Amino acid sequence: KKPPARKGSMADVPQELLNEIHGYEGDFTVPAEKLQAVTKHFISELDKGLSKKGGNIPMIPGWVMEFPTGKEAGDFLAIDLGGTNLRVILVKLGGDRTFDSTQSKYKLPDEYRTTKNRDDLFNFIAVSLDNFIKEQFPNGVSKPLPLGFTFSYPASQDKINEGILQRWTKGFDIPNVEGHDVVGLLQEKITAMSIPVDVVALINDTTGTLIASLYTDGETKMGVIFGTGVNGAYYDVCSDIEKLQGKLPADIPNDSPMAINCEYGSFDNEHVALPRTRFDIQIDDESPRPGQQAFEKMSSGYYLGELLRLALLETHKKGLIFKNEDISKLEKPYIMDTSYPSRIEDDPFENLENTDEIFVKELGINTTVPERKLIRRLSELIGTRSARIASCGVAAICQKRGYKTGHIAADGSVYNRYPGFKEAAAEGLRAIYGWPKGDAKSYPIQYVSAEDGSGAGAAIIAALTQKRLAEGKS
Ligand code: GLC
Repeated sequence: KKPPARKGSMADVPQELLNEIHGYEGDFTVPAEKLQAVTKHFISELDKGLSKKGGNIPMIPGWVMEFPTGKEAGDFLAIDLGGTNLRVILVKLGGDRTFDSTQSKYKLPDEYRTTKNRDDLFNFIAVSLDNFIKEQFPNGVSKPLPLGFTFSYPASQDKINEGILQRWTKGFDIPNVEGHDVVGLLQEKITAMSIPVDVVALINDTTGTLIASLYTDGETKMGVIFGTGVNGAYYDVCSDIEKLQGKLPADIPNDSPMAINCEYGSFDNEHVALPRTRFDIQIDDESPRPGQQAFEKMSSGYYLGELLRLALLETHKKGLIFKNEDISKLEKPYIMDTSYPSRIEDDPFENLENTDEIFVKELGINTTVPERKLIRRLSELIGTRSARIASCGVAAICQKRGYKTGHIAADGSVYNRYPGFKEAAAEGLRAIYGWPKGDAKSYPIQYVSAEDGSGAGAAIIAALTQKRLAEGKS
């Protein structure tokens, strides 16, 4: 299939709309020098996060203290509470760098993201798990199955089988979970329902991605997610993690590796480095957690459609687009999810007829061709900015650790499905490093598609944990 044309003629776009487009180009374009400055500040913030005093970036030790060998084997369960779905996965690790998995997806009811009762969420997980096990093991199981719980929110861990939620991200807002151990909350429901499962490890999606990808590809340096949220994980060394001093169990050597879930979505919460637009400020002000996740709010999928919506509303208020149209749907916050800019960028250029259909059918707005060209350009600007900014986190880790080459294992809905995102992210990394332009496959540090982190990754971590325990290690 021919990829959609990225550029169409602007000859039929009236001057007042062209001026508007140029204004947005100024707002959303982040030049290489700015990306480099952001990356530099990022490195110092990563270091602060590892210090005793701490900083904005949590830099959470994930208690995965070995590299997978590829020989890990056995049957494991994994669950992944993502932004929109709960996945339950049965993973069979082959012990030869291969694995097989079987999974079911359960749609998380939208209202559960902000339910007032935390039991709604944990019961939903337990019931889904129960159904899955009954389906997969109709004759029951002889001993409890070990389970790795992928929980993609910042959770502090003093050991691998706990996770104290620091704060919700990505629009979740459920009371009485922040400050609590989510492993305990889940295990309680599992036990009450007599489900034959032991939650042995709590895992961030980025850590799972790092470990799953390392299981199959020894060049992996980081696991990153470009999805509803934005985050990355890498291996540091215990002796370089100042805040671990005095906290390491006596049997863990100081030079042991330690996987770190950075939670760098919170980079620049103090708003000194990133070029925020008025739309970014409005998104933050109106979010359930103003002042938090500054980096994520400018680059992750949860916010891309909202940025587009706010910009379109602004241009509409100036009287330049959607004249005499009923825009009541467009006025609803978050009505445009990432699939909007994504589908708009996928529209083969010409007259942007797919975009027309989206606006008519889903938003009740008739559009003209020049209006659609503005909508398309805005989507490109927002998507490209996201990819470039998101690459600063990757460059910062690589520069901090001194990686000159390697693979960045990437996953997430935006990375996998947003048109042009992979290319724009690679170009962002190139711009930060100043490598000569060329085929992205020739760059010393490259994005590659990750292995399934919350399935295979969680299983491998559960296997590594079981092995440690069997050897009597902490
Ligand atoms: C948010 C979460 C983080 C997760 C990321 C990607 O940033 O806080 O834990 O890794 O989204 O899903």
